[in-house]
Amino acid sequence: MSGDASLRFAGKVAIVTGAARGVGREIVRAFVDAGAQVVAADRDSDGLTETCRPHGTRVNAIVADISTTDGATAIVARATEAFGRVDICVNNAAVAPHAALLDERVEVWDRVYAVNCRGTFLMTQAAARAMIAGGRGGRIVNFSSGAAQRGAAGGAAYASSRAASESFSRVAAVELAPHDILVNTISPGLIDTQPKPLPPAMAERLAARIPNLPLARAGRPEEVAALVLFLASDAASYISGAVINIDGASSAGGRFSGVVVDDDVRYDWVTGRTRR
Ligand SMILES: NC(=O)c1ccc[n+]([C@@H]2O[C@H](COP(=O)([O-])OP(=O)(O)OC[C@H]3O[C@@H](n4cnc5c(N)ncnc54)[C@H](O)[C@@H]3O)[C@@H](O)[C@H]2O)c1
Repeated sequence: MSGDASLRFAGKVAIVTGAARGVGREIVRAFVDAGAQVVAADRDSDGLTETCRPHGTRVNAIVADISTTDGATAIVARATEAFGRVDICVNNAAVAPHAALLDERVEVWDRVYAVNCRGTFLMTQAAARAMIAGGRGGRIVNFSSGAAQRGAAGGAAYASSRAASESFSRVAAVELAPHDILVNTISPGLIDTQPKPLPPAMAERLAARIPNLPLARAGRPEEVAALVLFLASDAASYISGAVINIDGASSAGGRFSGVVVDDDVRYDWVTGRTRR
């Protein structure tokens, strides 16, 4: 981790949901490397064990479902029981099944919203209550997706649920500001967390998509973790209510070919170009 003192977290306690794999696993690692104690939560017990194994007693694992009141309450209670406080809560857990709108099933829709929206709400509420009780303020980092800003086919439930997380986080930022709790949202583009080996249809889609991204690569989970740590750090003390893209410019545009051709004669008078 950085030697920057503002990115050190000694004495701080962070909760990370969705810690069993992908981005969540790297967030746990980054906080431990930066000196924090971490409660790592997920519904996947095996993955959670793998995440926590290298970190010994610095990480406390809890198998819980963030979409339930009991689950969210138990995760936050674990932080105060095990480490005595809650300073940071990273609501990274989410699900992203895709289906055509005409085939979308209501029970899948509801499950996506239960995890991505209700889970984010329940975790934010439970963590904020503990932070207020602690009297030291806090940081909450929620997650969205670039999909929330696009009309990508198949993402009706996922994309709209992530847009809802953004909206929810703005309200939370305003309501929790008097308690010195800062709430921000990270909106990743394509991050390399897909199952390996890649299932065939996924491999085909990524092979078509990646060369067209501005940086021609997916983001790495540790790059997202670095942004989480920044937002949780003293360096980000006046950032709240923000939605921050981490997408290698993919929300700005596609891959640049390296050549700009302008043969529009209307602006020759602007450029001074003369034509034969
Ligand atoms: N990977 C990407 O390309 C990408 C793109 C945009 C946004 N994001 C966002 O980044 C975050 C992390 O994505 P990822 O790719 O690492 O996800 P992932 O699917 O690899 O991992 C998500 C983790 O959350 C856990 N989880 C799901 N539902 C849960 C529940 N109800 N209770 C507890 N744990 C639960 C899963 O078991 C899993 O371990 C998500 O919020 C996602 O929306 C990811």
